[in-house]
Parts: sequence; C-alpha cells; structure tokens
Amino acid sequence: MEEKIQLLKKELLEKFDSVKTMQELNDLKVQYQGKKGIITELNSGIKDVPAEEKKEYGMQVNVLREAFNTGYETIKTRLEEEAVNRKLKEETIDISLPSVKNMRGSKHPFNRIIEEVEDLFVSMGYDVVDGPELEDDEHCFRLLNYTVGHPARDAQDTFYIDEEYLLRTQTSASQSRVMQANTEKSPIRVICPGKTYRRDDDATHSHQFGQVEGLVIDKNISLADLKGTLEIFAKKLLGEETKVRFRPSYFPFTSPSCEVDVTCFKCGGKGCPLCKKTGWIELLGAGMVHPNVLRMGGYDPDKFTGFAFGTGLDRLAMFRYAIPDIRYMYTNDIRFLKQFDETDVENV
Ligand code: DAH
Repeated sequence: MEEKIQLLKKELLEKFDSVKTMQELNDLKVQYQGKKGIITELNSGIKDVPAEEKKEYGMQVNVLREAFNTGYETIKTRLEEEAVNRKLKEETIDISLPSVKNMRGSKHPFNRIIEEVEDLFVSMGYDVVDGPELEDDEHCFRLLNYTVGHPARDAQDTFYIDEEYLLRTQTSASQSRVMQANTEKSPIRVICPGKTYRRDDDATHSHQFGQVEGLVIDKNISLADLKGTLEIFAKKLLGEETKVRFRPSYFPFTSPSCEVDVTCFKCGGKGCPLCKKTGWIELLGAGMVHPNVLRMGGYDPDKFTGFAFGTGLDRLAMFRYAIPDIRYMYTNDIRFLKQFDETDVENV
C-alpha cells in the first residue's frame, strides 16, 4: 500500500509541476477530490480493507490527501500572485515619458512697475484707488476745469461712446471721483494706477497706455511738499543719484503747473542719443490743485490746498528696467517677457 501511495504522490507532484492555469488546477481537484476522484475512491475503499490494515491504509491515504492539499494551496497562491502582478504590469503608467510642458509665465513689466509704485506710495501712507476706464465727460474733463470746448481737450481726443461717455484719457479723472466720494471732506492721499486711452496713432504713441495719478489734499500743502514727494519718487525708482528738474507748464486742473524732468538714466546727465543730448528726460506732469477743482470736488480752497501729479507707466517701466523700445511692452515677444522671470530689478 505504501508503495502505491508513494507512486500516486510522485505522479501527483509531477502533475502539479505542469499546472499553468487556474483551470488546470481545478481540473486536478476534480480528478483527485471529485465524486469519482482518486482520493475519494481510495477513501471509500477502506471498507474493503481487513480490520488490522485499516489504520495503516487510512494513514497512507492521508499522506496523499495532505500532499494534494498542500500542493493545491501553494499553486493557487502562486497563480493568484502571478495574476495580480500581470495586472499591475499591464496597467502601470510609464512615468519616464516626457510630460506635456506647462509654460510658466512671468509678471509683465507693466504690472511690475505698478506694484513697485504702489509699494513706494503705500509706504508713505497713500491709499491705492481704482477708477472706471469707461468714464463720463464730467469726471474726465468738466470737474477738472476743462470747460466744454476748452482747447486743452484737443490734445486728448479719444474714443467717445456717446455724447457723455468716453474711454478715459487720463487717470486724473479719478481725482474728481475721489474728492466726490470723500463725503467727510477729510484729507486725501491717494494714487490711482490704470489704463488710459487716446486716439494717437504715431510711431511713439499707442492708443492705450498706462498712467498713475497722485493726489494729496490737506491743510497747508505747498509746492515744497510736491517737490519733496516727487524727488523721493524719482530717486527710489530710478536711483538715488537721479536729479529732478521742474519746468513751468500748463494743465487746466493745476495752478501753478509744472513738467518734471529727471537726469537721463542712460548717461547720467552727460547727454546721449536717448536724452537727445540734453541730459534730461521728461517724466511727469504735476502742480497744485486748481481752486476751481477743489471747489467742484466739495473742498473749500480757502481751507484746503493740494498737489497732484500724473505720469506714464510705460515710460516709467522703460526707464526703470532699461527697456529700449516702448513697443516691446505690447508685442508679447516671449524672449522679452522671459527676462522679467527671475530678474532682480534692483540690479537692472
Ligand atoms: N493728466 C495729465 C496728462 O495726461 C498728466 C498730469 C499733469 C496729471 C498734471 C496731474 C497733474 O495730476 O497735476 O497729460
């Protein structure tokens, strides 16, 4: 009997060795443990075995049953693991494949200069305010002392929507809005950066450009305050060595009015092609707020005085970041914009 079982076991192990699929394994199970399976038959054969041999017979059948059970479990586990691994392999994502590149943008110099100007003036106690780009004639002109038909309007011909509404020609429009909005008529100290529009179409002007307006209203504000403020503005943005020059000028909403020049950032004032050999570059317009403007804004000009200034942001960015051509600001050339990626503007 023992020999027969050993033979059957050997045969079984060989069959296990050749099992490759779950189906084959299950077929083996039927073959050995099914209704008419080898082990089942051996088991029921015990009744024909003489009593004194029954124990030994039973033990031998058990040897074969255990061999089957162990082999079956081992192979089942192996086949299951193989199936999982195969699945994992089929479904893996190849992370070594190059991904679709996302281009990282950089801050446009126009926004960058706005932030720098804002930081500077906020550090001096100014508020930053917004104004509408679609303005009415009243705020853009009339409240700023440009009467209807005033010749100074000619220089600011723009895009009218109808008789009253237009794209604002100057951020000065926000002066009248800020004064009106301040119902307590308390002191004002604001800057207003934003987009402005004019019907310009020559080589050095664009129909859209940026300006930043400054307005200070308080008691005892004098031209000295204006000069001091603009000197700080110029030095902080264009370098401590920058010198400032004031020339008389005219704007309807300021009196006296002035044009402010700074020493050429390229030649330091010696004279070069950029400054047309004068050593100076025009930076902004400014002046003391006209009494009519104060009155129309609800401020008593006998009690309050103020100063205002306005400058082009595109020009300022050009000076600040040494941009040689204003058109670079608008042509969206990636090679130009990329330079503002990590650039430390302190070192430009
Ligand atoms: N708004 C003027 C312009 O666009 C610039 C300007 C001049 C603004 C004098 C001012 C100022 O606030 O006081 O030409």
